[in-house]
Parts: sequence; C-alpha cells; structure tokens
Amino acid sequence: MTYQNYSLSQLQAIDAAHHLHPFTDHRELRGVGARMIVRADGAFIYDSDGNEILDGMAGLWCVAVGYGREELAKVAYDQMLELPYYNSFFKCSTPTPVLLAQKLAEIAPKSINQVFFGSSGSESNDTALRLVRHYWTLEGKPQKNRIISRHNAYHGSTVAGVSLGGMEHMHGQLGGPVPNIVHVMPPYAFELAEPGESDDAFGLRAARSIEDAIIEAGPDNVAAFIGEPVMGAGGVKIAPGNYWPEVQRICRKYDVLLMLDEVITGYGRTGNWFAAETCGVEPDMITTAKALTSGYLPLSALLVGDRVASTLVEKGGEFHHGYTYSGHPVACAVGLRNLEIIEREGLVERVRNDTGPYFEQQLAERISGHPLVGETRALGLMGAIEIVRDKTTRERYLPAGSAAVVVRDHAIANGLMMRATGDTMILSPPLIWTRDTIDLACGKIVKALDLALADLRGK
Ligand SMILES: Cc1ncc(COP(=O)(O)O)c(C=O)c1O
Repeated sequence: MTYQNYSLSQLQAIDAAHHLHPFTDHRELRGVGARMIVRADGAFIYDSDGNEILDGMAGLWCVAVGYGREELAKVAYDQMLELPYYNSFFKCSTPTPVLLAQKLAEIAPKSINQVFFGSSGSESNDTALRLVRHYWTLEGKPQKNRIISRHNAYHGSTVAGVSLGGMEHMHGQLGGPVPNIVHVMPPYAFELAEPGESDDAFGLRAARSIEDAIIEAGPDNVAAFIGEPVMGAGGVKIAPGNYWPEVQRICRKYDVLLMLDEVITGYGRTGNWFAAETCGVEPDMITTAKALTSGYLPLSALLVGDRVASTLVEKGGEFHHGYTYSGHPVACAVGLRNLEIIEREGLVERVRNDTGPYFEQQLAERISGHPLVGETRALGLMGAIEIVRDKTTRERYLPAGSAAVVVRDHAIANGLMMRATGDTMILSPPLIWTRDTIDLACGKIVKALDLALADLRGK
C-alpha cells in the first residue's frame, strides 16, 4: 500500500477522521485540511500539489544536514538487519550507543563526558529534572530541589517539560505543574527593556532576576537553573552578550547547577558544536535532540557533566529511570553518521564563519528597514523578525499574533516555510544553506512582507 494510490482530498479526509496532530486546533484544521508534505530533497520540501517550498525551519529545527541523505538511510538499513533493537537495561549494551556516547564526549565541553539517551527533547529534559534532584539527594541535600526557569521558555511537552517551560497556555492545560519550579523574566530586550536602557544594563537585570529568585528561595533550596541559550519556540530571543556569563557567575556563587537546553542549539546551529561555547559558559548538563540525527530518526542525548556523573557513579544505588528506546541501536547509528556528515562537510565552521554572519547581515540590510519590521536579529542560523504596526513606537497589530500569521501565509504561498510565534517570524534553516539560499529566502521574505502590508493596511 502506498500513499500514491490516494488523492489529496482522500488523504485529508482520512487525516481528519483518525489523526490527532500536535499543538493543533482540530476544529480549525478539519475546516481547511492538512497541507500534505510528500517528499523532500536538500533544502526543499514538496507538497502533494507539487509546490516546491524552501524549508526555512529545517523541519522543526532539526534537519541540519538537509533532506535526501542516502548514507543515513543506508546506515539505518544495515543496522536494522544486523540488530534492529536491543535494550540498555539489565547490564546490557549495544555497540552504536557506546560509540555515539564516546563521540559526544569528544565534541561536548571538556567537563562533560557522560551521556543518557532518550528519544525526544522532552524526554531529555524529563531525565535532567529527575537526575538533578537525584544528584542533590545523593549529596545529602534533598531539600535543594527547586529549579529556576524563565517565562515563555519551551522545554517540551511531557509533564516535566511543560512544568519546566514557561508557556502559560500550556500550564493552563496541565492541571498543576511539577512542584518547586519557578519562572523569572526572559532576556527579551525588544519587549522588556526600559526606554533608554542599554543592552548591557538589560542583560544584567535579566540575569539578576535569577539571583533574586535564588535569594528568595534560599540557596540551600535551589537545585538548578535551566535555560535555552537562545529561546527558540518563544521567538528566537537572543540574550545580550553579558547575560550568560552573569548567569554562570550567579549559579557558581550559590552552588546552583547550570543546565542548558540545547535541543535546538546543539550540533552547530549557533556556529559551535554547542551554544555553551557561543555563550561562554560551562554547564553541568546539556539536553539535546533534534539535529543529533538531523531528524531522520528520533533520538535525544542528555550530556552529563563530571560533577553530577561522578556523584551518580561513586555514591552508587540505582537511578530508577530510563526508556525502552534509551540508546536505540538504529537511531544511534544514524546519529553517529549524521555527526560524521556535519564534521566532514565543515557545517559548524561554515555557520560560524560564513553563513551565520551573512544571514544576520542580510536580515539587517534587506529586511529590517521594511515598514512592518520592528527588529531583526540572528545568531548563527537562527533568526527572528519582529512584526509591528509602528516601527518607532513598536506598537503591534491587534489582536496579538494576527499580523505575523498573515506574513507567514504569504511566505509559504511564495515558497518559503517560516513560522510565526506571537508577533515574531522565526527562521531556523538547515545548516546546509549557502549564501545563495539565504539570498533566495530574503527575496521571498521581502515579497511576503510587501503582500502582508497591503493586506494589513487600515487595520
Ligand atoms: C528548546 C526545546 N526543548 C525541548 C523541546 C522538546 O523536544 P521534543 O519535541 O523532541 O520533545 C523543544 C522542541 O521544540 C525545544 O525547542
């Protein structure tokens, strides 16, 4: 049975009858029918109407090496025939997670040498929450269990992920978060800086909201701070340069562990293997997923620093935690080969030295002057465009979020997949994008903005 035997409308009808989608208003979706993406190659995806769409989101922040990599399919095929599955419980292991863990220890910051595998970013954060609390219990401080996160953070969709995250609409549907998680302000200068406040002053103020939360709880009660180096789903919020070093200083001062959620930023997106390096910090743990396999198979890796790992090992006792697919042999084989491709093609260096700076410059030169745009910003191959009604006052269109959706729909109709989150347009393309691809994307963005401006006139 292949999908080619079905028409688009048949597939949409079956989709509507049986398939519940993530983060979707199903009544609305069923009114219009799902866009059916049927194949992809390199930097492009293709829908069932034959439209070619430049993928500005790398799938969902994950397809780093682009689509159609035969060697990833081949390595999965070979591994499936040799050993499709075996677990890592009960004192067993299989070769590919062993070798992938070794590779991750090689590319991770130098104080990180241990890896716990799962299948998604949410699972990785779930594990981090469990491990950090277990760590302090092993250290004889079970009351040191509070975790500080930030409003509008996204850490996934499991109960722990939603609780760690700072999305109020998600908390609202949870019916009560995991206890002892508090949220402080995000480093989002575009909306939160006071008039006339410098970037540096804002960066310090945002970081010190963490210190305030630590002091309020009492340092003996605070286990860790968790943050995305760049807040992705919240709108590609890039902190001022002094924010992360100050966060590190505060965490060290109060003996609070620093956990980075690099589910988006890991494996090259900011121009280093990990954004920890880009931000100039040494975290105790890093959660990763997505680009680890370029999305070809589900896989996540929690990178555990020496401090936590040595307590876990030396104090002994079972850590009652794990997943059937922890260290899945096929996903790990794909992960290994994917990292080899990133290395062989020099994608991390290319983002750092060439495409990343060019992307930032092109957004600034070609997009930021548009009447609908309040600001553009980028770090590596992550970018944001703030949509405003008035460039000088930064007033937004009402209702909130309505204008960005107009821009997004024009972008997709003109062959560029972009995402709108609130009033922010975001981009996170495959790391294989070249200067030419960036030029192509910018042309499409300008066109989408012009068309949206015409639609929004008078609103
Ligand atoms: C920063 C961050 N953390 C965690 C997650 C959750 O990952 P997953 O959807 O694989 O569970 C995401 C997903 O986008 C993310 O952006």
